[in-house]
Amino acid sequence: MEVRKVVIPVAGWGTRSLPATKNIPKEMLPIFKKPVVQYVVEEAQSAGIDTVVLVTSQNKTIIEDHFDHNLTLENLLERKGKSQLLQEVRDVSEMVNIIAVRQKVQLGLGHAVLCAKEVCKDEAFAVMVGDDLMFGKEPGIQQLLDVARTENMAVVGVIEVPENKVDRYGIIQGEEFRPGVFRVRNLVEKPAIGTAPSRLAIVGRYVLVPEIFKYLEKLEPGVGGELQLTDALQGLANENRLLAVKLRGQRFDAGDWVEYLTANIYFALHDEDLHDDLVKRIQELVPCKGR
Ligand code: G1P
Repeated sequence: MEVRKVVIPVAGWGTRSLPATKNIPKEMLPIFKKPVVQYVVEEAQSAGIDTVVLVTSQNKTIIEDHFDHNLTLENLLERKGKSQLLQEVRDVSEMVNIIAVRQKVQLGLGHAVLCAKEVCKDEAFAVMVGDDLMFGKEPGIQQLLDVARTENMAVVGVIEVPENKVDRYGIIQGEEFRPGVFRVRNLVEKPAIGTAPSRLAIVGRYVLVPEIFKYLEKLEPGVGGELQLTDALQGLANENRLLAVKLRGQRFDAGDWVEYLTANIYFALHDEDLHDDLVKRIQELVPCKGR
């Protein structure tokens, strides 16, 4: 199974991150030195994906621009002899090909993926949710691609979440047929606490086959009145063509303030120059309890 494209839906408002996102797309909020979306694109790139399909809306062109050259800035850095910064800035522009498609009305994640139909046509493709960040030895999407290729099937990434958080996710139910890999039987989007069939929650990583479009086109509004990708995936599960893989690594939901701030600290702590000073400052702050 060849997967060259990743669909990244970025049309949403980011209401959880207001007022920071009043005029800045939530995908452009920085985590340490890079915007959130760059981490997602780097994960895709390191898994051999070379084309990003951004499903966008108005006021989001800044995301496309981030992955393009900024010649004025490059010239300035060159003139000033800042060669390392220049290289970093150029690398971002050359990372991937960008295709942008418009989601003119935001009807849900399923609808966003459907907007990419004309671009993905009859190829298998990945979907990565723009504010779900995965870090670890193996890129999250690579773990899905490995299973998708060996089994020649669509795959969703899952993690185990506590019982009191199942209502924030799509939850799967299935049989584990080899360690960490499940044959998915049923999926339910954001089940009420106490009704979920398991604690295996879908994180924003998917490898999909073109047949998904057949199910996306037939979708009726689901939870929250939205066209849910999870509901379309039930179509593939009914045909015995959907697997789930339990992801290894750290995951951060950049739309949640605690997680967003933790991700910033996680990355900054990995920077040798900052590490010691940062630990010291945090230790000084903690006893203050916000004062
Ligand atoms: C979406 C999906 C959900 C998944 C989640 C992961 O929900 O619909 O199944 O568990 O992403 O982040 P959202 O967070 O967009 O409401």
